[in-house]
This record gives sequence, structure tokens and C-alpha cells, in this order.
Amino acid sequence: MRERVLVETDNVKRVNKLVYRLLKRPKTEVPGLAVVYGPTGFGKTRWSEMTAFRNGWGYMRINRLQREKAFVQEIYRRLHWLIYGEDHIVRRTASKIEEMCIKLLQDNPEIVLFIDEINHKIHKREWDILEVIRDLTDRSFASIVMIGEQDTVDALNDYNPHFFGRCNFFFKFEKNTLEDVKRICNEVAEVPLDQQIIKEIYKETEGDLRKLVSYIPELENAITRKYE
Ligand SMILES: Nc1ncnc2c1ncn2[C@@H]1O[C@H](COP(=O)(O)OP(=O)(O)OP(=O)(O)O)[C@@H](O)[C@H]1O
Ligand SMILES: [Mg+2]
Repeated sequence: MRERVLVETDNVKRVNKLVYRLLKRPKTEVPGLAVVYGPTGFGKTRWSEMTAFRNGWGYMRINRLQREKAFVQEIYRRLHWLIYGEDHIVRRTASKIEEMCIKLLQDNPEIVLFIDEINHKIHKREWDILEVIRDLTDRSFASIVMIGEQDTVDALNDYNPHFFGRCNFFFKFEKNTLEDVKRICNEVAEVPLDQQIIKEIYKETEGDLRKLVSYIPELENAITRKYE
């Protein structure tokens, strides 16, 4: 089985257009905050990690226990790595580090930051990290894509309309289609899989690519054994 592949599913193609629009927006007028959301296993993390990696952008995942200072430290570390190609952990106050992040983002407006698992903070109504994101977008022309669960948009709208008002771009990962599943099986499996089995797995997994991919090694083994 091939690892760390990014198959161009329908969602991937469509969400790439959102990132394009985000980068092309009139930056002085429109805050660059996007929300990408959808059910578990639909491919949000795979897309954001790989897209960041391929374009030299930043990807980070919010840790459930992470607070404001650790968050700005991590953003700074990512940005420093992307811009200067070296690791740098800065030890200053949270507000000083935030200033440093703003400066890096102001000087490098082409960078997109993907912040995954944003729902941890929304559900616990811990706004410190969202306040940092708000400061970054208000004070630089940064483009930030927040990634979360299915109910992220509704939860943000209900609990923090002030922040929600700055989100201008939205994308929902929809259920992956049979065509998507076939494409994934073709590109991820190292041997051709039976089309009928692919259809059955598609029905059973209901768009959850994590479940789908977990079947592939066993199916590959079965096929390899058949021809041994
Ligand atoms: N476009 C893709 N190409 C190839 N494999 C994919 C793709 N999208 C998802 N997968 C496979 O499905 C798994 C689950 O996807 P991913 O972690 O991106 O889901 P998610 O939407 O972030 O789920 P969660 O909401 O639980 O975080 C990946 O680890 C990968 O194996
Ligand atoms: Mg994920």
C-alpha cells in the first residue's frame, strides 16, 4: 500500500479552488479566514497537510491542552522554518511572540496557515487561541484555513459571532463518491482490486476514507496470496 498519497477526490479539487480564492481576495478589505469542515474520515487533514507541504505553507494541529503561549510559539516556529529553513524556538512573552508572528506574516503574505482540529477549542469555549487567530488576520494580511468537525461552523456562529463575522470562506467536505473511492483504491493499493469489492466497501464505509483505507492492506494480501 502506498503511503501519504493525496488522491484528487472531488472534495480535494473543489477545496483547492477555495484556497485559490482566498489568496486572490482583495487583502486590504477582506479578512483571510476560511473554515473547512465535515465528517470524520472524509479527508480534511490529508488534504491540508499535503497541500501545505507541497506549497511550502504551514500546517499545525491544535492540541487539546494547548494554550495561547504554546500556540503562538508553534506558529512562530513553523513560520521561521518555512521562511528561513531552520528551527527556532523563541522564549518571550506570548504577546511579544505574537508580534513576531505578525511581522513574519506581513512580510510573507503568500504563506497560507492551516490550523487543524479547531473544534477542540470551540467546544470547550476556550477563546484564547481564536483571539490569537483574530489578531493575526486583523493585523497582517494572513490567509488562515481552520479545519474542524462537521458542526464547526454552527458552533462558531452560535458561540462567537464576533469571530465568525471575520470568516469569509467556507468549505464543507461532502460524502466521497464511488468514483472517489475507485480512484483512491487505484492509487493507494499496489495491486488492482476487484471492482465489485470496491463497490461493497464504498457502501459500507459511507464516505469515510479512514475506514476505506484500513481495508486495503488485507485486500492486497488476499490478491497476492491468490496468485502465489
Ligand atoms: N485525498 C486522499 N487521498 C488518499 N488518501 C486519503 C485522502 N483523504 C483521506 N485519505 C485517507 O483517509 C484517512 C483519513 O483522512 P483524514 O485524516 O484526512 O480525515 P479527516 O477528515 O481529517 O477526519 P477527522 O475529522 O477525524 O480528523 C487518511 O489518513 C488517509 O489514509
Ligand atoms: Mg482530521
